[in-house]
Amino acid sequence: NSGYQYILTEKKGRVGFVTLNRPKALNALSDGLINEINNAVHLYQDDKDIGSIVITGSEKAFAAGADIKEMEKVTLPEAYNRDMLAQWHDLTKIRKPIIAAVNGYALGGGCELAMMCDIIIAGDKAIFGQPEIKLGTIPGCGGTQRLVRAIGKSKAMELILTGNNLSAIDAERAGLVSRVVPAAELLSEATKLAEKIASHSQLTVAMAKEAVNESYELTLQEGIKFERRLFHSTFGTHDQKEGMNAFVEKRNPVWENK
Ligand code: CAA
Repeated sequence: NSGYQYILTEKKGRVGFVTLNRPKALNALSDGLINEINNAVHLYQDDKDIGSIVITGSEKAFAAGADIKEMEKVTLPEAYNRDMLAQWHDLTKIRKPIIAAVNGYALGGGCELAMMCDIIIAGDKAIFGQPEIKLGTIPGCGGTQRLVRAIGKSKAMELILTGNNLSAIDAERAGLVSRVVPAAELLSEATKLAEKIASHSQLTVAMAKEAVNESYELTLQEGIKFERRLFHSTFGTHDQKEGMNAFVEKRNPVWENK
């Protein structure tokens, strides 16, 4: 729908779905595909009825990486002049929570795309990896940075230097994914998770996401202060008064996102 060529989008209740749909190339992330993902998530960001977003692929591939056929002939001046891959980071500007639901291959840019999301949930056949070294290049969209933060230096270094893959179960053990579910249940589990998040105050959810993400950027002291200031801010909201009053009155809260 909506005239997209490489993705499908669908709203179900308060959850916005983006399904990568370039099956012949295993969802290789061409510029066109990345632009469509960015477009779709920005529309969900602006849609007040949407509380969370799920990005998924197919059973065989979440995404098999950046498009190698598109990159093969790129020269250094071209890459530098158009700041190749810079637009991928648009996804991290979205303030609503994004869940990556990964079945099949999440390799190279596919793994990096998943890591730019807020939560990764994996089907039991999912495969993660940064195989760029086998192509004579290195991860270019956060792999050397986010993977280290997600699973630690030693494991990240081993994956990036060997180009070996990581199974879903090992990815869960290492902390890259929040949980592994049977492949056939991936979408329903991701949907339940997204619905639960979307059932909370959107305002408070955005503050919680912002605070967690700052932990990547700030020292512990700065991060704790940042958190405390945002925590204080919640006391200026309707939804904090409502949430606590509903607890005291033993009823369900009615969020107004203000
Ligand atoms: N770019 C472009 N096309 C790709 C692709 C990619 N990353 N991955 C797969 N395809 C294409 C294949 O070329 C093939 O197309 P044709 O039918 O036209 O030949 C089609 O998708 C199916 O792929 P395979 O026949 O290879 O499928 P397979 O089941 O035998 O193997 C696979 C699956 C192991 C994932 C294999 O496709 C593969 O190794 N893909 C490349 C993975 C990779 O190296 N990713 C990193 C890319 S670089 C990067 O991402 C940089 C960055 O940091 C942003």
